Amino acid sequence: MIQRYAVVLAAGQGSRMKSKLYKVLHPVAGKPMVGHVIEQVEATGANEIVTIVGFGAEKVKDYLGNRTNYAVQEEQLGTGHAVIQAETHLKDKEGITLVICGDTPLLTAETLNNLFDYHQEKGAKATILTAHAQNPTGYGRIIRNKENSVEKIVEQKDASEAERLVQEVNTGTYCFDNRLLFETLSQVGNQNSQGEYYLPDVIEILKKQNEIVDAYKMISENEGKGVNDRVALAEASQLMRERINKMHMQNGVTMIDPTTTYIDSDIVIGSDTVIEASVSLKGKTIIGEDCFIGAHSEISNSIISDGVRVTNSTVKDSVMEKNSNIGPYSHLRPNSHVGEAVHIGNFVEIKNATLGLKTKVGHLTYIGDADLGENINVGCGTIFVNYDGKNKFRTTVGKNVFVGCNANLIAPLTIGENVYIAAGSTITRDIPTEAMAIARARQENKLEYYNKLPH
Ligand code: UD1
Ligand code: CA
Repeated sequence: MIQRYAVVLAAGQGSRMKSKLYKVLHPVAGKPMVGHVIEQVEATGANEIVTIVGFGAEKVKDYLGNRTNYAVQEEQLGTGHAVIQAETHLKDKEGITLVICGDTPLLTAETLNNLFDYHQEKGAKATILTAHAQNPTGYGRIIRNKENSVEKIVEQKDASEAERLVQEVNTGTYCFDNRLLFETLSQVGNQNSQGEYYLPDVIEILKKQNEIVDAYKMISENEGKGVNDRVALAEASQLMRERINKMHMQNGVTMIDPTTTYIDSDIVIGSDTVIEASVSLKGKTIIGEDCFIGAHSEISNSIISDGVRVTNSTVKDSVMEKNSNIGPYSHLRPNSHVGEAVHIGNFVEIKNATLGLKTKVGHLTYIGDADLGENINVGCGTIFVNYDGKNKFRTTVGKNVFVGCNANLIAPLTIGENVYIAAGSTITRDIPTEAMAIARARQENKLEYYNKLPH
């Protein structure tokens, strides 16, 4: 078995992004571009991956961790110069080296494997992954001779007018004979319009040395898209979303309008779940089977179990157990655990709280820092008063409690089981099991008052 290596180029500053964030860390469908690239490279079974890092190296290393080796390119002198930095890791090894850019997030392992296979079948020393581009502006052009074999790659800025008309472009992805790659890189100069050491120049040098140089042209135009600016970032994100949505639909998820459904890369969704328009599913979210996620809902880093309904609501860092529901217009903030068959209606905010089986919170309520048992009814307008301006306190409510409307529960509090709290009460002391608490001013009726007032 021939050894496969990979070099991921990720040291460029990405100045065209005009960003404080390092280019390859910009997310596409919730995952940094370089994360997509490394994942696909890993899936080819590459024996060793070396990522070239420069400006912002620590942040890339923090993100990728030990999934790859690293080589530092102190100064960004071009893609050829970048690959040379991998010398200490790879130079004397026998095998095929894939070179790929950290800013081409759409390339799939399938295409990379096809490239490896093609390279091997042709006995080539270098094979370029190319694509037909409707608009080739910005890409290196593939220059072929009369026999249609590859001669060289010319960069946009160095290309003649005739060369600029060529629509076959370099995706920045190549397979090389590993030893020959490092031998040839030392011959690459920087006599070009950008004064950079271009990796694509290796192609022309090898060709002149009569080595077999070839190009594997993929069918998809989009997969090879390189992201250099925010316009391309948005295009790549849209293409990635289409791919993700298609995969979920093929797995049995109904999407009412996939063009406005925003699902991050690693989301899991069970079959027969229906997702309406303008829904965002982010981070490490898992959605069960037979769920309904209504229009304009946003769910991030949460677990939504089977049969849950989320109607126009926001759920963050939380869990919803089976057959519970929320919304419209409600908000689960971090660390909320909503029990089975719980009902949360409209205009309810819940934070750092647990709600037991079948508990109901129908309307206009804030529950923060609290543990509620089973079968509780929280009346409209209830506030769990958890904050005194400096510290937060917790409230515990036993099962079967009925909280009347517009109650304030001033934490810390422990409320026993089977308790009634009268509407409009401000509760400041614990309530024992089976009691009724009423804490409001008594009503007084001033009779025949109307005629005492001037009118
Ligand atoms: C490059 C190719 C071009 C190809 C295009 C495909 C060169 C000279 N040009 O152009 O033929 O069509 O990709 O998307 O290779 N990088 C470093 N160190 C450097 C310079 C760049 O690590 O000194 C990294 C960048 O972080 C990036 C990748 O190499 O991930 C490509 O660099 P970029 O500047 O984006 O090259 P393009 O102009 O897109
Ligand atoms: Ca690029």
